[in-house]
Amino acid sequence: MAEQFVGRVSEFADGTRQIVKVGNTEVGVFRHEGTFYAYSNYCLHQGGPACEGLTIAKVEEHLREDKTSVGLFFSEKDMNFVCPWHGYEYDMKSGECISDRKLKLKNYEVVTKGDDVYVVA
Ligand code: FES
Repeated sequence: MAEQFVGRVSEFADGTRQIVKVGNTEVGVFRHEGTFYAYSNYCLHQGGPACEGLTIAKVEEHLREDKTSVGLFFSEKDMNFVCPWHGYEYDMKSGECISDRKLKLKNYEVVTKGDDVYVVA
């Protein structure tokens, strides 16, 4: 396992991402609410750049006690990212594909050392 430098914590704004090359592969590193998440940048659909598309708040359906719908709302804490080729949507915190939770992007460990951010691959 090798550590690949990603950037400085102090320059890695919350809500942004970096794409880094690690050997022969690409990894997308996201910072969301102070936590780093890293996933393979190869979409499980047709290999598109899964980590390079839009990030959007998760859509949640709120239910009444009788299970009827109150409506759809954007989550205030959970984010997804969307492959720009055909729209496969992935959970930022798990890498799972929203439309089929059995599909999951390979994830990588992220470590910080002082102000430096590394992905372990
Ligand atoms: S390649 Fe990502 S949605 Fe098709």
